[in-house]
Amino acid sequence: MRVITLLLNSILPGTILLSHAFKAHDFKTCSQSAFCRRGRALAQRASENASWSSPYHIDAETVSFSPSQSSLTARVTSFLYPEIHFQLQVDILKNGVVRVRMDEIGGLRKRYDEAASWALISEPALRDDDLNWVGFKKGKKGGVVKAAYGGVELAISYSPLKITLLRNGREEVVLNGRGLLHMEHFRNKPNQTDEGEERPSELEGEGGEGIEGTREQTVLKEPANGNAWFEGEEKDGYWEETFLSWTDSKPKGPESLSLDVDFPNHGHVYGIPQHAASLSLPSTIGANPHFSDPFRLYNGDVFEYDADSPVSLYGSIPLMHAHSAESTVGIFNALASETWIDILGSPTNTSIATHWISESGILDLFILPGPTPDDVFAQYASLTGTTPLPAHFAIAHHQCRWNYVSSDDVRTVSKRFDEDDMPVDVIWLDIEYSEEHKYFIWDEKTFPDPVEMANDVASVGRKMVVIIDPHLKRTSDYPVFAEAEAKKILVKKANGEDYEGWCWSGSSAWVDFFHPDSWEWWHKLFSLTGKTEGWRWAKSTDTIFIWNDMNEPSVFNGPEITMPKDSIHYGGWEHRDVHNINGMLYHNQTSQAVMRRGTELKRPFVLSRSFFAGSQRFGAIWTGDNLGTWEHMAVGIPMTLSNGIAGMTFAGADVGGFFGNPDVEMLVRWYQVGAFGPFFRAHAHIDTKRREPYLYNEPHKSMFRDILRLRYSLLPMWYTAFRETSVTGLPLLRPHYVVFPKDTRGFAIDDQYYVGSSGLLVKPVTSPGAETADVYLAEDEVYYDYFDRQVYRGAASGTTVTVPAPLSKIPLLRRGGSIISTRQRPRRASPLMKNDPFTLTIALDRSGTSAKGDLYLDDGETYAFEKGELAWRGFRISPEHNKKNSPLVLHSEDLVTLHKGNDVVDGVQIKSWDPRNAFAQSIARVYVERIAVLGLEKEPKSVNVVGGKGLEWTFSKGTGAKGKKTGVASALTIKAPGVLVVEDWQIRIEL
Ligand code: NOJ
Repeated sequence: MRVITLLLNSILPGTILLSHAFKAHDFKTCSQSAFCRRGRALAQRASENASWSSPYHIDAETVSFSPSQSSLTARVTSFLYPEIHFQLQVDILKNGVVRVRMDEIGGLRKRYDEAASWALISEPALRDDDLNWVGFKKGKKGGVVKAAYGGVELAISYSPLKITLLRNGREEVVLNGRGLLHMEHFRNKPNQTDEGEERPSELEGEGGEGIEGTREQTVLKEPANGNAWFEGEEKDGYWEETFLSWTDSKPKGPESLSLDVDFPNHGHVYGIPQHAASLSLPSTIGANPHFSDPFRLYNGDVFEYDADSPVSLYGSIPLMHAHSAESTVGIFNALASETWIDILGSPTNTSIATHWISESGILDLFILPGPTPDDVFAQYASLTGTTPLPAHFAIAHHQCRWNYVSSDDVRTVSKRFDEDDMPVDVIWLDIEYSEEHKYFIWDEKTFPDPVEMANDVASVGRKMVVIIDPHLKRTSDYPVFAEAEAKKILVKKANGEDYEGWCWSGSSAWVDFFHPDSWEWWHKLFSLTGKTEGWRWAKSTDTIFIWNDMNEPSVFNGPEITMPKDSIHYGGWEHRDVHNINGMLYHNQTSQAVMRRGTELKRPFVLSRSFFAGSQRFGAIWTGDNLGTWEHMAVGIPMTLSNGIAGMTFAGADVGGFFGNPDVEMLVRWYQVGAFGPFFRAHAHIDTKRREPYLYNEPHKSMFRDILRLRYSLLPMWYTAFRETSVTGLPLLRPHYVVFPKDTRGFAIDDQYYVGSSGLLVKPVTSPGAETADVYLAEDEVYYDYFDRQVYRGAASGTTVTVPAPLSKIPLLRRGGSIISTRQRPRRASPLMKNDPFTLTIALDRSGTSAKGDLYLDDGETYAFEKGELAWRGFRISPEHNKKNSPLVLHSEDLVTLHKGNDVVDGVQIKSWDPRNAFAQSIARVYVERIAVLGLEKEPKSVNVVGGKGLEWTFSKGTGAKGKKTGVASALTIKAPGVLVVEDWQIRIEL
């Protein structure tokens, strides 16, 4: 393999392959990107000009409303170019979200307007009349229209154009308040009036509409210099720009879009992943030398990225939360082109100004009014969807490496995990399984028996994941390439020929997944039912799942390691218009292919590196090529939190770090981080030493085993958390501002988090030599150490407690008031746990009497749950009556029945729910083997199943949950209660 790397390097001098430092100069800074320069210069001029006022205004006589007054349309003109007009449409959607769209009317060419259609689950519906509804109305004095609904007011001022969302008279979001809106109109290249000469005709895609405007257009006279105050003196990079050795021909000329989006009453902004940065985003205008550039969104293969930087990484989600103790609001700016975002926080941390600069596309911005973080998650989920319930194995432990070198190597790895009693569900294969990096085709020298290999791995309940990259080796003996070429579904160069670039497979081509003809064809490649069809991926099985890497796309000899922006996709769109969506389309099609490959639909698992808004619907992502350093381990946490804020909650970082050889202390800590993240995969670069956890000596080997077993024992909790996010869009990992939106002290905390609604509070250790960790508790509640039951007391004013954190232990607390279901029998893979009994651990809240939790179960692989094949249990403990020393009663309840009043139960279309559905029956005998109650004030007198037998129990004296006492919590352990997990029952604790 190294030979291949060296070979590629010799072919591609100066590429990233052998470097060992982030090559900042491979990627543009704002000052090297013409439209970003123009956008920042505009902001600079505005800030220096006291009389600056936006030239964009609504032409009053054009304002009109939809019949329900929930949609406004108007013509917008800039004083600078009176002949150019824009269509503004402002829609108030069903759930109060405001959609603002603006596009040039009859422009010389067409701006890309399909980004939202790829990101959204469906065209959002307008708000209908309802009781609280006051639709758009013109103000008495004119010059402004307002709509009031659901506690907020939307005001649109005509001149200058300004859109403000207010809540109780307080400005929440202001668009164009600083006058930075600028939609550069299409123009003719100077000295060229014949537009046909500017654009090669082959840019029009087959079957697509083409991107040329149809309206007759007179050649505009550029105002001599009257617009310099606004647009600047120079026509900076309008028609061409160079970066290193690359020239970007810009046949469409300037079409960038600048907009200021301000939050006058919010001190923190979050989101816009993916960057290696803190959760609360720092100002990009100011003193911090790491953040002197705007945050960039331009999916890129950034080699050995810095751990503290606004540099754009592999995925882009233009979703931002703005937060204060009073409210949370969100912005979703549905743009797929390269985008830069400047952030400027006020010195007092009470307001934030942002400036979004995109290279192309229409304005299509959604204001998510909140007012709570949960509301914003729901509003965003209503637009772009949620993470579907994954296949159960996908939430277990994954072992990857570039590369397991042969089928016997794979067998050995699987066996070694067993020998050391370490659970693992998935063994991964990186690119070297394939013959000359022709994906789908096994290298027969090293993988002569792939089906037998996969079956051997599957025989102990395990799965495999195999990589399929998007670059196709350009050789006629590679059927995937040959067919794609023949079907004319490859991405084109600006001159209309098939695009060629370099990647792992040498000279390569890329399928254009915007082309509808590619979809069905791609699905068929994965089919397990058409095995007789010649070369097709006959040597596969339904236990092999897929990894999509390099799909930004990564092109080793392309500008910024990607495809040139003037490459052409289906419909004639330039790559610049769609770059950030490109990887999502690939992920989407692969995911559908895996779902549909057998005779029945099964939940797919496809890991993608590149992503966009909506990618959560297609699978998991990871944070790419991190380094085996403490800094990278630490920044992986806010990165995962940020991804979760933006809907991409099924995410994780390479455990151990992709590059380098972490020492064993770092590796143990890294497994602890990974075990408490949604996607838990160890992975390593080809040049690293092997570091599978079974290779280490004691005491570390046992530490790895303990962490892995802890993950497995908590899989019921994780799966239940996934159910919740699949319904609500709430992130799996919840930072403090999400759980305690009013606690200002927690707004910048991003090194500890809650897992779902489980009440688990995690504070991973990410520095060497730690023996303790400080954990912030935001509320007046009791917390229990997960391992030793030590009690910690929070305070309403917030307090920090110090918990022991020797290497063997991840700081992990249970929040008082929670009940968690675990499975404690060690197994080598999660499918083998299907019939294992449960342990319930009840952490009483500070009243000393109450707690609740839930447990969701289904078959973990099909879609039968959508038809009601599931069990969703609620556990609740509370006093029997209001008197002192009341017995406590633990209830096991069927949550589906409790929710039956709603016709849709948590998004699951269950019309006539049957608690005895086939799945529930398949686990009918699964029982609860132990119940622990933490924090009882006194030893019980008796414990019995209501209407049934008395139970055996032990009581370990200790601290009760009430009051401010510390120490080790008391623990009641009910042994073998024998109750069945899918049945209703009550257990009474007499005190
Ligand atoms: C880059 C990916 O980020 C990495 O995880 C993978 O191992 C290599 N490509 C080789 O496929």
